Amino acid sequence: NLAYFNERYVRLDEPVLPVEERGLQFGDGVYEMIRLYRGVPFTLKEHLVRLEQSAQSVMLVLPKTVEEIAAVVLAGIEKTGIGEGTVYIQVTRGTAPRNHLFPEGVPSNLYIIWKEGVPVLEKERTEGVRVFTFPDERWNNCYIKSICLLPNILAKEKARQKGGHEAIFIRDNEVKEGTSTNLFIVKDGVFKTPITDQSILNGITRQKIIQILKGHDIPVLETRLTMEDIEVADEVMITSTTQEVVPVVKVNDWVVGSGKPGAYFLKLMAWFQMEVD
Ligand code: PDD
Repeated sequence: NLAYFNERYVRLDEPVLPVEERGLQFGDGVYEMIRLYRGVPFTLKEHLVRLEQSAQSVMLVLPKTVEEIAAVVLAGIEKTGIGEGTVYIQVTRGTAPRNHLFPEGVPSNLYIIWKEGVPVLEKERTEGVRVFTFPDERWNNCYIKSICLLPNILAKEKARQKGGHEAIFIRDNEVKEGTSTNLFIVKDGVFKTPITDQSILNGITRQKIIQILKGHDIPVLETRLTMEDIEVADEVMITSTTQEVVPVVKVNDWVVGSGKPGAYFLKLMAWFQMEVD
């Protein structure tokens, strides 16, 4: 494991941040989480493009070009020799005395964390997981990958305390996404996933999966989904960089389909493995 803060490598437990830092005090920053498969960052370019878009959306200037950030990411992988793991990138609006107004002439802070190991989700994939729905108490710009994740962590923790694996946000009667995952359902052989407006993050895994499904002539519909769609769904699954694809077999007290991971999940999981191999 290794970390990086503004041009220098540091240990993960090394105190490098001044107390007055805008990520710490305001959650004033954006981030990306990238997965390494055999030492190769999967969809690195897509993640860095999204990092740049997130930064732009909150008027934050990256301290380096995405090409330069990519070079640092790759150098860290080389340095650590990590095979299966993750790279976390965070950019904040810099170090400055606490003031809601943007600081002037202050460079943004760039942090990177390389970590060995990925979550083991064997049981989750063979048995499926339960999720709980919660009202979406987040802001209206969830398409931005902001580090302000208080509503997300609160909902996920509440779901965990009820024995759930993930919390799913409902807004205006629509099923939106999980606290750190996107959502797909399957109905009569058609995959459906919420449309990407400002209310959800357009997951890189989501986009990759849509591409994989289309490549296998499986119809995919980006549409508005409600709890009624969940209740008639044959299968439900959640997706993300760290979790890839996880089958959902229970939503609140509703048992999805057969109550077991479905045939489409198994197919998709196999195709996804081929993609990252
Ligand atoms: N979370 N929706 C939200 C709110 C997310 O935070 C994430 C990612 C996703 C899935 O996006 P992607 O497929 O690009 O990882 C959807 C990361 C993994 C995290 O917070 O750790």
